[in-house]
Amino acid sequence: MMSSSHHLAAMLTKVGSALEISRRPTPTPGPDELLIDVKAIALNPVDRFQRASGFHISHAPAVLGSDVAGVILASGSSITSDASLKPGTRVAAFAPCFFKEGEPNYGAMQQRVLVPAANAVPLPDGISFNEAALLPMAVATAWLGWYTIGLPVHTSFTPADKQGMLVWGGASSIGSAAVQTARAMGFTVYATASPKHHAYLQSLGATRVFDYKAAGVEQAIIDAARHDGVALRTGYDAVGQLKSCLDVLKDFKGDDVAKLAEAVRMNDDSPRVDGVVAKFIAAAPDARERDEQFRFVFNVWLKERLASGEFVPSPKVRVVEGGLEAANDALDILKEGVSGEKLVLEV
Ligand SMILES: NC(=O)c1ccc[n+]([C@@H]2O[C@H](COP(=O)([O-])OP(=O)(O)OC[C@H]3O[C@@H](n4cnc5c(N)ncnc54)[C@H](OP(=O)(O)O)[C@@H]3O)[C@@H](O)[C@H]2O)c1
Repeated sequence: MMSSSHHLAAMLTKVGSALEISRRPTPTPGPDELLIDVKAIALNPVDRFQRASGFHISHAPAVLGSDVAGVILASGSSITSDASLKPGTRVAAFAPCFFKEGEPNYGAMQQRVLVPAANAVPLPDGISFNEAALLPMAVATAWLGWYTIGLPVHTSFTPADKQGMLVWGGASSIGSAAVQTARAMGFTVYATASPKHHAYLQSLGATRVFDYKAAGVEQAIIDAARHDGVALRTGYDAVGQLKSCLDVLKDFKGDDVAKLAEAVRMNDDSPRVDGVVAKFIAAAPDARERDEQFRFVFNVWLKERLASGEFVPSPKVRVVEGGLEAANDALDILKEGVSGEKLVLEV
């Protein structure tokens, strides 16, 4: 039986090698932090880049991972008055491994983790820990996309406004969150995905879904939006299909500027189109500004939308059996690619 002063973690002791399970001291939360008893961890592509190359890791050993769901064990002194984040509350939280560069107390892949209270959302009873673990990175990255392209947080269209949003890669984790958040803001959503995911994405709020492998898919999207009378001048590329997104958006920009949030890093050779501003999605470099963004996304926006059922964890949970000990296997599976699923470890 593990003592409450120590817990198990999957540690990266050497970049490029397998994670190792070891025992480490359980930390105490700082004034604005929560200590979470982790029940489920979801895996993201950045986790495997970090294991393989040490991307944004400056600690050795390090603990990787961003997505957790669990129960608050202790709240910091500044947040004890926040009734929605008191000990015993079920939450999902964005563990700040990336921003803390692997500092062990802040990585998801362990039994107890510290997170800023701004990064946590209380869970309605109907959402399981496995489902909740899908939320943090996906919802944060959808919203960081909207921040990056300057979409006001209280954007609220009606269908009569005919404002379109292109989401390329709707079946991905962040793409499915982009579909749902865009829909919640009142955009008419045009998404791409494999045909087996079309009905699911429509259930999440996409108006039309297109097979990205079909010849002429860009023109099909343009034709559909024109037929619908929708202005398709805003986009979210979840999977690095920059040229296709630019090809669609440029058709609608007119004398205006179209905007694209791009999840995959661009370089000097990336395609560009006059009048379409494509920006790489990144969190605010200033910690205080980032904290404010996350506080809005998790403590306010997502809290309300989970409670109302307007936002649901997406895409689908796929549990990799074996708990923390299966972390390496799960990262290996992720390297092969997933389709409409997110890998989850039960702790
Ligand atoms: N900038 C940031 O802050 C940030 C944050 C998080 C993630 N990312 C990056 O964003 C990307 C997506 O991450 P994720 O976790 O959401 O990925 P994911 O869930 O693992 O993505 C898998 C999905 O991508 C879809 N897909 C692959 N190629 C596609 C294409 N050409 N067109 C349309 N869909 C395609 C597949 O769709 P089908 O199943 O329909 O075939 C599959 O379901 C990764 O490159 C990740 O590193 C960036």
